[in-house]
Amino acid sequence: MQDVAKALENLQRNTQNPLLDRLGALFESAGFELALVGGPVRDAILGRVAPDLDFTTNAGPDEILKLLKPISSATWDIGRAFGTIAAQIGDEKVEITTYRADSYDSETRKPTVEFGTNLEDDLIRRDFTVNAMALRLPSRTFVDPHSGLRDLLFTTLKTPSKPEVSFSDDPLRMMRAARFASQLGFVIEPETFEAMVSMRERISIISMERVRDELSKLLLSSNPRPGLEALVDSGIAAIVLPELPALRLELDEHHHHKDVYQHTITVVEQAIDYEKDYGLANDLVLRLAALLHDIGKPATRRLEPGGAVSFHHHDVVGAKLAKKRLQELRFDNDTIKAVSKLIELHLRFFGYSDQQWSDSAVRRYVRDAEDQLLRLHALTRADVTTRNRRKADRLAHAYDDLEQRIKVLQEQEELDSLRPELDGAAIMELLNLKPGPEVGKAYKYLMEIRLDEGEIGRAEAEKRLLSWWQSR
Ligand code: CTP
Repeated sequence: MQDVAKALENLQRNTQNPLLDRLGALFESAGFELALVGGPVRDAILGRVAPDLDFTTNAGPDEILKLLKPISSATWDIGRAFGTIAAQIGDEKVEITTYRADSYDSETRKPTVEFGTNLEDDLIRRDFTVNAMALRLPSRTFVDPHSGLRDLLFTTLKTPSKPEVSFSDDPLRMMRAARFASQLGFVIEPETFEAMVSMRERISIISMERVRDELSKLLLSSNPRPGLEALVDSGIAAIVLPELPALRLELDEHHHHKDVYQHTITVVEQAIDYEKDYGLANDLVLRLAALLHDIGKPATRRLEPGGAVSFHHHDVVGAKLAKKRLQELRFDNDTIKAVSKLIELHLRFFGYSDQQWSDSAVRRYVRDAEDQLLRLHALTRADVTTRNRRKADRLAHAYDDLEQRIKVLQEQEELDSLRPELDGAAIMELLNLKPGPEVGKAYKYLMEIRLDEGEIGRAEAEKRLLSWWQSR
């Protein structure tokens, strides 16, 4: 990757924000230390301007508040008990936390907070060396006691203290390791990974909400594969998302079906690639549906006479299992509903290429997908992972065809629903006509008004029709 000189240059260049110097000077003049820390330092070195500005200081929460109040449009003591104060300063949101010397209680889920007195003690309590670097302000001195810069250049994730200590402090860090593997493309160092394996059970003390958020961040990264593999290989997924490792079905002796687990990860990757085609971006619902679309397979797997393997109704079974798992992970109802609908419908198309659907089957597909149609398009296309080029092409063309028919039907139906206020029978009654060309002309006259003016109401339509008739 880059060298040290380039990395430090990046750090200075991507932290040019005048707010840093302003805050540094403010804290210094009050006799306190202040440093930019963690994610923003890491991201600046990586060449990205960090979305959040996190600082750490030896000032206590009350002192932080006192300093920030006069220059902020709003302040929140989001984690005041933990020493974190957030503030809105101009367009920017900052979070400033008192040096920590805390650890999480190993039995309960609650952090036990103790404030620290110096930056070094704060840094050693952080999750990974690449997140344990700081930039002192206003001096802009780079502080890196745990060789985070070296690890960042070698794209290595390791803990500043012994991994067992760091993961005991907060077991969610094991999932953060997987997330950073995906988000930053870093490799989890072997000793750190071994600690994930040996301490995996500890993840169960973490609240489902925090697990959910971490899993979501992993899935929303540009490359979920390494993170998902780290969760499965460490045994953590077996605790928080057991349906995923369960997809590693033994291959039957005839290799009649592919490895569903590998297939699933490929489907997640392909779904991400399809997002832009459907105007979607970082779409958690689609990615969750891709991840869970085949979880009904292990329970429905049957060996058929002749040696073939079948998974009848794995769509319906999978949708139910997904609902249960997502509820347990405390996802919101809209997400759960959308994901299970997509899973339930993910096989429907595969009957299309064998026998042409009637218009009503196409309409039913659209109706059943409701507001999930675009995601269903993306998921169904992503589900094709065959290495057989001809088969893949045939399915892609069949799906193009289906989308085209949906488009034509939708256009027609919009046109079909455009009707004048009076139909043929009403026209005949009002004008006292028998069926014939005059009725058609009257209908056409009303239709022109409908197209030009939109709906005018029945009474107005009758009035206009009568005066048109009389003027003839
Ligand atoms: N941190 C930690 N242990 C945790 C969570 C956070 O040590 N379980 C520290 C890390 O130094 C991290 C910083 O707190 O860099 C800020 O946390 P957070 O905002 O969650 O992490 P970021 O690295 O900034 O990444 P993101 O904002 O994407 O979550």
